[in-house]
Amino acid sequence: MLTKQQAKLFFLVGTFVTFAVFIGLTIYSLRQVQTNLPEDVARGKHLWEKNNCMGCHTILGEGAYYAPELTNVLKRRDVNFVKGVLMSEKPWDLHGRKMVAYGFNEQQANDLIAFFKWVGTLNLNGFEKVDRTVSPLAKDRMKDQSN
Ligand code: HEC
Repeated sequence: MLTKQQAKLFFLVGTFVTFAVFIGLTIYSLRQVQTNLPEDVARGKHLWEKNNCMGCHTILGEGAYYAPELTNVLKRRDVNFVKGVLMSEKPWDLHGRKMVAYGFNEQQANDLIAFFKWVGTLNLNGFEKVDRTVSPLAKDRMKDQSN
């Protein structure tokens, strides 16, 4: 049993140590935040958000499962292929599901590509090694169909 004095000391030391850890981790996290994005990356990110790409795609695992995961799209696809998809005037649907025909101009397509390149340079803690091109839901469905 702790005496009242010891309990008080335990409380104070415990509170101080966890508070110090909390402040330390906060500073550590803030140092990872990149505030000076290159202009083309920032424009691409803005296009990404404004056009609701995440309504169909995932990036870094976030978003919807209708269309391919795009975190590593440039490792999988040639830059010109991606540009073609983004600038296409007709809905892109090689595999039966339609990508919106945004008909972006060259600069917008390049900005989005700069954004994808930048996303590809983030430390993803191993996420990039897992094949997430096809969503988990679609994978299950493919399994069902093969039975
Ligand atoms: C309505 C749903 C939808 C929206 C919104 C959408 N996409 Fe797509 N996208 C698709 C589908 C479906 C495909 C796959 C088409 C295929 O290969 O048949 C695709 C394919 C792509 C591809 C090629 C990926 C690959 O691996 O072949 C890129 C790049 C892409 N989209 C970028 C974007 C960007 C950038 C936005 C936002 C500006 C966006 N998409 C918004 C549905 C969508």
